[in-house]
Amino acid sequence: MPTSLTSLTIRPFRPEDEDAVIRLWQDCDLLRAYNDPHRDIERKLAVQPELFLVGLLAGEIVAGVMAGYEGHRGWLNYLAVAPDHRRRGFGRQLVAEAERRLQKLGCPKINLQVRHTNVQAMEFYRRLGFAVDEVASMGKRLCDDQAHQNQ
Ligand SMILES: CC(C)(COP(=O)(O)OP(=O)(O)OC[C@H]1O[C@@H](n2cnc3c(N)ncnc32)[C@H](O)[C@@H]1OP(=O)(O)O)[C@@H](O)C(=O)NCCC(=O)NCCS
Repeated sequence: MPTSLTSLTIRPFRPEDEDAVIRLWQDCDLLRAYNDPHRDIERKLAVQPELFLVGLLAGEIVAGVMAGYEGHRGWLNYLAVAPDHRRRGFGRQLVAEAERRLQKLGCPKINLQVRHTNVQAMEFYRRLGFAVDEVASMGKRLCDDQAHQNQ
């Protein structure tokens, strides 16, 4: 059942949302050459698809977040609010709904990664009660989406 928060309607992603969500990511500068957005969506639909949320206004997708829980930490990725709809509390509403769903699964803490240069997103998250953890973020690529595209 979709959750309605003021005028933003929040519900899990549906396959027919794909083009609109990728356009939203593009408008929010979240696309990176090393991430194939179609494959990212395909992978998310295979793992906890109910934690991939979109926010709609009058039936149009204006926001989205991809959350997940691996049994120890919850994660937020691809948080986006369309540029024309920012500073109206929609980002806060979407994260609150993701938090609610993660908490329901027993998740004790959320982690997320923000680029050091993305000071606006860091300030946004601070306002929502997130703090910078004094840890280094490390990563290792297990699959090269670009190589896959070229096959
Ligand atoms: C970050 C983002 C999701 C915020 O969405 P939003 O709907 O504008 O945020 P909200 O209106 O819900 O704001 C919530 C709080 O954050 C603050 N905030 C939001 N954007 C801010 C900004 N650019 N600078 C400072 N504070 C900001 C608001 O003032 C508000 O604080 P308050 O409730 O204490 O008054 C949106 O700017 C975005 O999509 N950015 C591009 C994509 C991105 O960087 N995603 C995160 C990747 S890690």
